[in-house]
Formats: sequence, structure tokens, C-alpha cells
Amino acid sequence: MSSTLDREISRRRTFGIISHPDAGKTTLTEKLLLFGGAINLAGAVKSRKAERHATSDWMKVEQERGISVTTSVMKFTYRDYEVNLLDTPGHQDFSEDTYRVLTAVDSAVMVIDSAKGVETQTEKLMEVCRMRNTPLITFINKLDREGRSPLELLDEIEDKLQIECAPLSWPIGMGKRFRGVYNLYRKNLRLFTPGAETRDQQVITIDSLDDPQLDRLLGAQADDLREDLELLEGAASPFTYQQYLKASQTPVFFGSAINNFGVQEMLDTFVEMAPPPGPRQSETRVVTPNEEQFSGFVFKIQANMNPAHRDRIAFLRVCSGSFTKGMKVRHHRLNKDITLAGAIIFMAQDREHVEEAWPGDIIGLPNHGTIKIGDTFSTKEPLKFTGIPNFAPEHFRRVLLKNPLKLKQLQKGLVQLAEEGAIQVFRPLVGSDYVMGAVGVLQFEVTMARLKNEYGVDAIYEPVRFGAARWVDCPDKKKLARFEQANQHVLAYDAEGFLTYLAESEWMLRFFMEKWPDIEFRKTREIT
Ligand code: G4P
Repeated sequence: MSSTLDREISRRRTFGIISHPDAGKTTLTEKLLLFGGAINLAGAVKSRKAERHATSDWMKVEQERGISVTTSVMKFTYRDYEVNLLDTPGHQDFSEDTYRVLTAVDSAVMVIDSAKGVETQTEKLMEVCRMRNTPLITFINKLDREGRSPLELLDEIEDKLQIECAPLSWPIGMGKRFRGVYNLYRKNLRLFTPGAETRDQQVITIDSLDDPQLDRLLGAQADDLREDLELLEGAASPFTYQQYLKASQTPVFFGSAINNFGVQEMLDTFVEMAPPPGPRQSETRVVTPNEEQFSGFVFKIQANMNPAHRDRIAFLRVCSGSFTKGMKVRHHRLNKDITLAGAIIFMAQDREHVEEAWPGDIIGLPNHGTIKIGDTFSTKEPLKFTGIPNFAPEHFRRVLLKNPLKLKQLQKGLVQLAEEGAIQVFRPLVGSDYVMGAVGVLQFEVTMARLKNEYGVDAIYEPVRFGAARWVDCPDKKKLARFEQANQHVLAYDAEGFLTYLAESEWMLRFFMEKWPDIEFRKTREIT
């Protein structure tokens, strides 16, 4: 074990921000990058908000986007920490991508709009964090606006997201009466001045709530704060570090991202508290980050990041050892050695060739279709990291080819796009059509546009009668064969050849599951 490796691991923080659209994720990201010196201009991240536009706009932005809009990973240094912030697409139609990005983080920050509370997308993303016990810090945003009472918000988080809340800061008023936040653990007060988007806020130490300074600074609201904190003592759970690490408790901060208020406070706590890169499960064993052997897995593929070059970048998370430029690694799925010469690392607005990388870092590997999601690379031992799932699609469309001579290209395109995770593809056992499956409908349009632009395939899609899908299996292969024989008309193979049941509706799915109790119906499938 090298001490350099240990040191580099301990100073790395790899995380993602989860939120419902409009809660303030982009704004918070921007402020974090400002603190990290990765950008020096507010507004620089705004152009990345392609997700919020209408579909047609989105397509245009997608097609036109250059390097500035692309960064799925933002790396910055804050204090002595190397922070990797992984972008999670805000649009719910790309949630599948988001889910997978969350498999590559060690912790997450959840942004909640103080007026709206817990929203649907937050709930879904939280489910994914729960699957992996991802430690979570909560940032309740937009305190400069009238919102719901902080206690009510904490109650709702506990109730809907099934996680205990431990407030680390407490807001004083809200909207027009918002005066700042009191840090319960550092015992200090940060005063809010509307419109003053400064980096250095006035921090006043208040050791005791009886301190007359409070009254002088807050007037009548000092007593409100005292009352709130008294109430809180009985109502809220005290913060426990271990519970946070186990993801059974979330520390909560209040602030206003747009005013850059409460952000640095959260960031300071985040870097000190969030877990460094941890061990990862592979099919054969648990891999610890401080092993000498380099290993990593691909959790995302992004094509056309730079339209001028028609590139395809695989994002690899380093899990153990160190990466050095030009190093030779084993591509285990293909059983081949490859040299990682052109690997790149992503800063907020730039990409650079990477000389070295450490556990927790994300490197981009340019390739022409040889790498797919879930691939593992390592220097010695054959490994396959687990826990990178496909999620059962909820929307389905049949693909119709305008020119039948393009069938080969269509097949190639669909398979590659499925490998990228852009869409899921099913081949029904009966018939010759391809059925696309998606978690969000926008994926269909993007797929069609890409089939046309990148593969020269003019295709359209039409509705198809399916409404749910499950991967099926059974330990008793005879039973599975009987099931397959009896249900050919509703079965398909996915792009990797796994048997899938396509149900007409959720109701039909439940009926089917009761009818075939020995068959396993899975909502997620490990990528092989
Ligand atoms: P998202 O990435 O989660 O979708 O949210 P984003 O940061 O884009 O924020 C959504 C809207 O909320 C934006 O307003 C943004 O300015 C606003 N916002 C973010 N943080 C705060 C805050 O602390 N207080 C208040 N009052 N507003 C906040 P918009 O009008 O949709 O966009 P824009 O015109 O400001 O760009």
C-alpha cells in the first residue's frame, strides 16, 4: 500500500446532486464551481440546462452543443480536497442515465425547494440512493422566498423519503423576513443581505442563545429563533456521523443558492464529512481503493460531445490503484489488452489529457463502440464490477423502417445505442419488429434523430401495446422453458439476449406474476 495512494484517496470526494427540476441544482452547481475556482463567471453553467427546454429545443441544443455544454463530470479543487461532481440529467426522461451515474458516486447532495418540498423526481432518485445506501446531505433551497415551515419540510422528508433528518443549520425567517442561518454545530450566525452575492459572509460566533448579540442583530426574530431551537431539541434527531454514513440519516442545511447563501457552509461540511472513495463489489470479491492494482468501471457513455469530431466517450470511475497516461489495461469483456492513451479528464468548461488519476476520479475514454456501459478494466486480475443496472422501461414503441434495405444499419444503430444506455431494445420472439423501451419518452425522439444522423437510417416509431417489462428467469431451467413455450407472444430478448416479458399493462403484469409464481420477474437487470 503506498502512502501517496492513501493520501489521494482520502482527499477525494465524488458526488452527484439530486433534485426535482427547478429546485436549484444548476444554480447550486454553479456556486460550487465558483468556490472551487473551476469557473469564474456566474451563468457559465446555465447553458447546460438543455433539459429544461421543450423537446424540439432540446434536440436542437443537443445537436448544436459544443464542448461548453457537455461536461457530465466537473472536477474542482476545494481547500485540500479534489472534488468530482457528476452531473445527473434533471429531465426525468433521462432518469435512467441519472440512476447509473449514481452508481459511480460515493455520496449525494439533495436539493429541495422550500416552497415545494419533496417532489416526485426527488422521490425516485432517492429510491436509487437507498438501493445503494448512498450517504446524503440535504440542502433546502430558496429561503429568500416564502416557503413552507422548516419543521414541516423536515417532517415531509422523513415521511416521504424514509430518512431521518438532522438539521445542522436553522433558518431565521423566510422570504422578505429571511435574516440568515444559525449553524447548530459550529454555533455561529450568518446574516443574509438580499442581493449581496458575496463569497465572504459575515460569520458571527454565538456561543449561547442567551447572547444579547442575537437580539441586537435579529431584533424580535431572535426570540423566534430561540423558540424554534427549543422546539427542535425535542423534535429533531441529533446528528450522528455513523448514521449519515449508513444513509439512515441526512444532515440538513438551509440556504439560497441563487444568493450564494449557505452554500459555502454546506460545502465546508460536505468535504469534511462526505466519505472518500470506498470499496466496490465485484462478481468475485470486494475491491478496496487502496489496492495497487488499477481497476475501474464504465457507468456512462456519451456520444457526440463534440459534433465536429463525432466522438464517443466512455466515462470510467477509477475504483482502485492509480491510473497513468498510456497505461495498458485488460478489457475483460473483450478479453483484450488495450492502452489507455487518450484518456481525458473533465474540468468545468474544458477537457484535458489526463496524466494520472486516483480512486474516485472519473476519466473519459474516447472509443468507437468498443466500450459499453458496465465494462470493467483492470491491470491484472479479471474483474467485473457489479451494481450497474438497467431499469425496466415504462414506455414502448415499435420501430418502422422507411427503407427496408437499411435493416443492417438499423440493427447496428439500435445495438450501439442500447450499449450506450440511450435506449433499450427488444426483439420479440414472434415477428420481426424491433421494440424500443425507455424510461422517459424523450429517449425515443433522441434515438430516432441519432439513427438518422449517425447511422443514416430513416425510421419512425409507432405505439405498441406494451406498458411494462420485466426480465424473467427461473433457477429451474425446465420450468423456464415451459414458461417460454407458453408465452412466446409476449416474450422478447433484450439487446444482450436476456429474456424479457413485455406486459400490456401493470395489471396484466400482476396477473401474470401470480399465474407463474416460480418465475422471477425482475425490475432491474445487471448489465453484463
Ligand atoms: P434546476 O437545475 O434544479 O432545474 O434549477 P435551477 O438552478 O435552474 O433553478 C430553477 C429556478 O430557480 C431558476 O429560475 C433559478 O434562478 C431559481 N433559483 C435557484 N435558486 C434559487 C434561490 O435560492 N432563490 C430563488 N428565489 N430562486 C432560485 P428561473 O426563473 O427558472 O431561471 P432563470 O431565469 O433565473 O435562469
